[in-house]
Amino acid sequence: MGWIGRFRRRELPAIEAHELSHFLDGCTWSIGSKSALLPLREIFVLRDKGGRRIFLCTDRNGQRCVLKLSPHKLKATGNQPRPLNCLEEGRLMQKCMTPPLCSSIPRLLGAGADPEDWTFLLQPFYPHEGIQSQEQAEFVAKKVLQVIQYLARKAILHRDIRLENLRIHGSQVIVIDFNRATTLSPPLPELFENSDVTARGPLIVPGHANPGRAAQSFLTLIDTINAQHGFNLSAADILRRL
Ligand SMILES: Nc1ncnc2c1ncn2[C@@H]1O[C@H](COP(=O)(O)OP(=O)(O)O)[C@@H](O)[C@H]1O
Ligand SMILES: [Mg+2]
Repeated sequence: MGWIGRFRRRELPAIEAHELSHFLDGCTWSIGSKSALLPLREIFVLRDKGGRRIFLCTDRNGQRCVLKLSPHKLKATGNQPRPLNCLEEGRLMQKCMTPPLCSSIPRLLGAGADPEDWTFLLQPFYPHEGIQSQEQAEFVAKKVLQVIQYLARKAILHRDIRLENLRIHGSQVIVIDFNRATTLSPPLPELFENSDVTARGPLIVPGHANPGRAAQSFLTLIDTINAQHGFNLSAADILRRL
């Protein structure tokens, strides 16, 4: 039990580097190798919300990374799909680590679980400076569409594509947070070869429980970018030029 128990009761005042590495050392690493990454140093709490914690840290090679921790069992809230714990999220992301690769998907450094309470996921830290111009916003939208397309070809639906889950730095656009992602069965490689290029048509996922959802999240993303920056991006135009 030790410090993991204290962690659960949220009584741990400051996370010390040696404690976090000790915890990760006691975990089963289903993905990645702990000896390549531990010990972690310079650990800061980035977020502490809803039983999940996110830390910013530096791995043994000096690479900045982000560690996500979540309980094994997570409860669904409202009508949202059930969130994945970090190990499940890692397993799903692992499907993206097989060729062809996509430079807009976070690289997975490690994932695993302790025997009873926690699961974890380790990724590189991706910097974020936001959207600076309408031209860049169009570029970001195009990248996001490419990610949706890439994931569909791998039979994955992200289901949480929003501005908060994008890390944008110059021409680097990373779609993070596969916490609500799901797999499609069977895969739909023909998804984007639909010739009916309307704002929604090519994004609709036949056979999915809520077929408009992938399309809707993209349209909502464009609306949010327009509202926040005063741009006039058109989702239909972006799709047409894809
Ligand atoms: N790889 C990363 N690089 C930089 N920041 C990250 C990374 N992963 C997560 N974050 C930060 O932590 C926040 C929450 O992470 P996220 O994976 O979206 O978890 P949640 O499911 O809690 O939304 C993000 O909005 C972002 O600010
Ligand atoms: Mg998120």
